[in-house]
Amino acid sequence: MSRGEGRRLGNVALIAFMLGSLLLLSLIRARFSPIGKTEEAMKAEEQQVMTKESGKMQTAYGAGASSAAEDEEEETTPTQVGGVVSSTSVAAGNKKQQAVCFETSRRSDTCEAGGDVRVQGRAQTIHVGGPLDREWKIKPYCRKTDAFALAHVKEWTLRPISAAAASAPPRCTVNSSATAFVLSTGGFTGNLFHDYTDVLIPAFITARRFAGDVQFLVSSHKSWWTSRYAQIFQQLSRHEVVDADADDEVRCYPNVVVGPRFHKELGVDPAQTPGGPYSMPDFRAMLRAAFGLERPTAAPTGDTWDIRRRPRLLIISRRATRRFMNERGMADMAGSLGFDVRVADPEATSDVSKFARLVNSADVMVGVHGAGMANMVFLPAGAVVIQVVPYGGLEWLARGTFGEPCGDMELHYLEYRIQLDETTLSEQYGKDDPVLKDPAAVHKQGWNALKTVYLDKQNVKPHLGRLKNTFLEALKLLPHGRQQRNN
Ligand SMILES: *[C@@H]1O[C@H](CO)[C@@H](O)[C@H](O)[C@H]1NC(C)=O
Repeated sequence: MSRGEGRRLGNVALIAFMLGSLLLLSLIRARFSPIGKTEEAMKAEEQQVMTKESGKMQTAYGAGASSAAEDEEEETTPTQVGGVVSSTSVAAGNKKQQAVCFETSRRSDTCEAGGDVRVQGRAQTIHVGGPLDREWKIKPYCRKTDAFALAHVKEWTLRPISAAAASAPPRCTVNSSATAFVLSTGGFTGNLFHDYTDVLIPAFITARRFAGDVQFLVSSHKSWWTSRYAQIFQQLSRHEVVDADADDEVRCYPNVVVGPRFHKELGVDPAQTPGGPYSMPDFRAMLRAAFGLERPTAAPTGDTWDIRRRPRLLIISRRATRRFMNERGMADMAGSLGFDVRVADPEATSDVSKFARLVNSADVMVGVHGAGMANMVFLPAGAVVIQVVPYGGLEWLARGTFGEPCGDMELHYLEYRIQLDETTLSEQYGKDDPVLKDPAAVHKQGWNALKTVYLDKQNVKPHLGRLKNTFLEALKLLPHGRQQRNN
């Protein structure tokens, strides 16, 4: 090999290395931004994927690249993403325009149309008689940058009804005076965290202003899913939920909203809610009404029984990964501090209202980072969430998913970080292995590496003495001790 060839090869290697680094960087950025796939997302992905590695890699790169690219954009810049233009460019041109598609956040698009609306569910087509300048396409699920989630979400079309059109619009077979609301329960549903953050909270944000006079047209409908959350749908709508993809009717409405609005992870931004400000406490009040939850706040009520009631600590169990290895010991220790202790696994029941009542009865909820933590939506205000963060530099993930949403839910948030002597990883890897010594190096290998090692292979055994301090801290945050003598 000549020197020239050697240098050329060296250059090629250098360029390849730089490209690789760029790709990695964009992936890592995507993971660190809340828009990237979460651990739960990946879990749901695993459950759903039938395609093997190649498909997965493509998804990960696709999602990573688009999320990273979006970071560069100003939120207010009109953008054309997936055929939907943000409201600024559409609405500004013509204030009277009744049909509009816009980006409600980096995670979702919404189209709203009024006038003569005819929905053909089986064809995922909505014929719009009001002003609509052209055909629009939209996927009504709040993960617009996530190629994998969207692969499981059907695309809907809004089509103008015009005299010039080759075929006449279909005749109405059902007339309704409600607003139609098209959403999808494809994507990552089935994972508790995604159920709330991708669908239920966005549906609340979108539908609440109609005060029940709204009909949910659900695409990628799964009957077990809609029946699991039937009580929530009943709070938001007094009309039956329609399995849209299987619907042969031509349903006619005066208005339609396609695609729920997204604000933030497990949250509602009152400054952006349509039809007046409402917030996460309103969402939680709706949940209490839906499931008959008795405690709006953790403060003991005036009656004698309740004053003497010990504060309840609920340990969220996990079965497969990120298990507590010493649940029994944890429970005994908490009991010795004066807690009334309960241990429960949310995945072991499909009865949401039963589990919701248990969570609502708790004053402290402790669990390892994972979808089950989403049960915090049922906790009374003033309760304490303790998130146990597995070993491996996962604080950013833990905070983005469950830590930050606590504030708007009026919950206290404490973190317990698993250290080297508390993780089963230290039994699986040598003490000089990068997995134990240098988690950042594993993070650099991308999401799949991080997830495989720190989320899938790890169980935890919190040091009881150290955990006790966190439990005591939680106790101090509760209203129980403070009010006991005054009442
Ligand atoms: C629905 O309303 C339209 C317009 O008022 C009417 O022509 C049509 O017959 C109605 N269809 C049904 C099934 O009630």
